[in-house]
Formats: sequence, structure tokens, C-alpha cells
Amino acid sequence: MSLINNKEVYSTVEFDLWADKKSLTEDEKYLIVKYLKKNEKTVEAGTAAGRILWEMKDLGFQELYGYDYVPEFIEQAKQRDRSQIISFEEDATDLSYENSGFEQITYLQQIVCFIEEEEKRLKALTEAYRILKNGGTAVFSFLSFESRIKSPFVFYLAYLSMLRRLSGSNRSIQYIPWLKLGGKYNFLALLDRGPYPYWYKVQEAHQILTQVGFKIISVGSSYQIGKGKMCDDIESLKHELMAGMLYFVCKK
Ligand SMILES: C[S@@+](CC[C@H](N)C(=O)[O-])C[C@H]1O[C@@H](n2cnc3c(N)ncnc32)[C@H](O)[C@@H]1O
Repeated sequence: MSLINNKEVYSTVEFDLWADKKSLTEDEKYLIVKYLKKNEKTVEAGTAAGRILWEMKDLGFQELYGYDYVPEFIEQAKQRDRSQIISFEEDATDLSYENSGFEQITYLQQIVCFIEEEEKRLKALTEAYRILKNGGTAVFSFLSFESRIKSPFVFYLAYLSMLRRLSGSNRSIQYIPWLKLGGKYNFLALLDRGPYPYWYKVQEAHQILTQVGFKIISVGSSYQIGKGKMCDDIESLKHELMAGMLYFVCKK
């Protein structure tokens, strides 16, 4: 199957996986419980069928909203949504929400990394900043390039790099094909077939978040969360091991 972009990935091969997913991961639970307040108005970006929202509701969060750009996810979510917390179709790069309308925003499950173009990723973060109230809290997760360049993926990345050199492609090595699709290995990744999620370096994610105006209050990977202690800044994180996803907790 030839897929043209990450949006098509989510509306086809990855659809069932995310539509049916239940419960929070350990990382998500840690971040939500530690950094978000139950009585504050919160929006979840890229909510799919609302998994994280339903779990937050069960944890006692009261004013929840969510959006996604795949209409079929929104339909699915609405069937469960008696309280109507799921918005209509919205694209993270161009939101219809008012300025400063939310006290908390969550961009978990690496939603920003599925935006193919660099300028649109910046636009999505600018939009995130715009809809957050002054003093509000934002939680972001990114696919972590530093975590990915560890064995065994380092061999695949070396291979990918060689393939791109030979084919004259100047695509950044931080654009990595999906290695699994719909829970199965994607053998087309060996041919460097897109679509490509974008894997962020810590420094770069920090730079883009601060560029749009966010103030970083905590940063870490799944490894730091597993140890129960995120870092206060990227300087401290540089001295630590990184594994799994990359998380930033920010204030506006
Ligand atoms: C990895 S899934 C996570 C779904 C859900 N948050 C969860 O954790 O169960 C990423 C979701 O982000 C949505 N998404 C990706 N890019 C988006 C964008 N630019 N605007 C809105 N939704 C987007 C996809 O449709 C997909 O539902």
C-alpha cells in the first residue's frame, strides 16, 4: 500500500490501533498527574478516539476538550462522548480556538512529529502557544533522535544514510520511515519509503519551544520518568541517559 502522508497513515493502517487503544502509559500518567490540574480547562491535541481524555475524565479532570484532523476518529469519539468534549475536525497547524482559551494543553503521543514540513511544525507550536492562557501549562512529547541512535537502530540509520547518499537524496536523517504500521513491520522502510515522522534532537526541540515563547520547566525522556525525576533544564539532561520518548513541560 502506498501512503502519501502521515494523515493518511492515521486514517488507514494505524486507525484501528488508535481507535481501540485503552488506558494510559506510565509516562502519560506521570505527566498528567504531576503537572496538570484537575479543575483547569484542558485541550488534548490529536486525541484520536479520545483515549487520553476518557482516562483524564476518570482521574477527575472536569473541563476537557480534544481535537483531531482525521474525521473518522472524531466520529468514533463522538459515539462515546455524551459530554461533547471532542471538537470537530481541527488541524494542529491552523486551529479555530480563540486566543488564550485553555489553561492547559497536552500534545502527547508525539503529534508534532507527524507534521511533515518544518515550517508547519513551527506553526503548530505557535498555535499551541496562542491558545494557551498566560501562566498556563503545556505538556509536549517528541520522538527522540538521541534515543533512536542507539543500537540496534543505529545500524538501520547508517544504512538509511548510505541509501540516501547513493540516491542523491538530501532528506535529513531525522526523517525516519515508519518501522511498524498497524502493529506489523513495515518492510518498505528498508527501501526508505515515506511517509516520514520527524525525530527531534533535545536541543532542537528546546530551541523551537523557546522560539515560540514557551518557558521550559521540566524536560526528560521515558528513562527520567521511570526514575520519577525529570530534569529542570536541558543542560542537566545532557549528563543523563536518554531512552524512549522526549518530554517537555512548559509554561506560557
Ligand atoms: C499517535 S496518535 C495518538 C492518539 C491519541 N492522542 C492517543 O494517545 O490515543 C496521533 C494522533 O494525532 C493526530 N494528528 C496528527 N497530526 C495532527 C494534526 N496536524 N492535527 C490534528 N491531529 C493530528 C492523528 O490523527 C492521531 O489521531
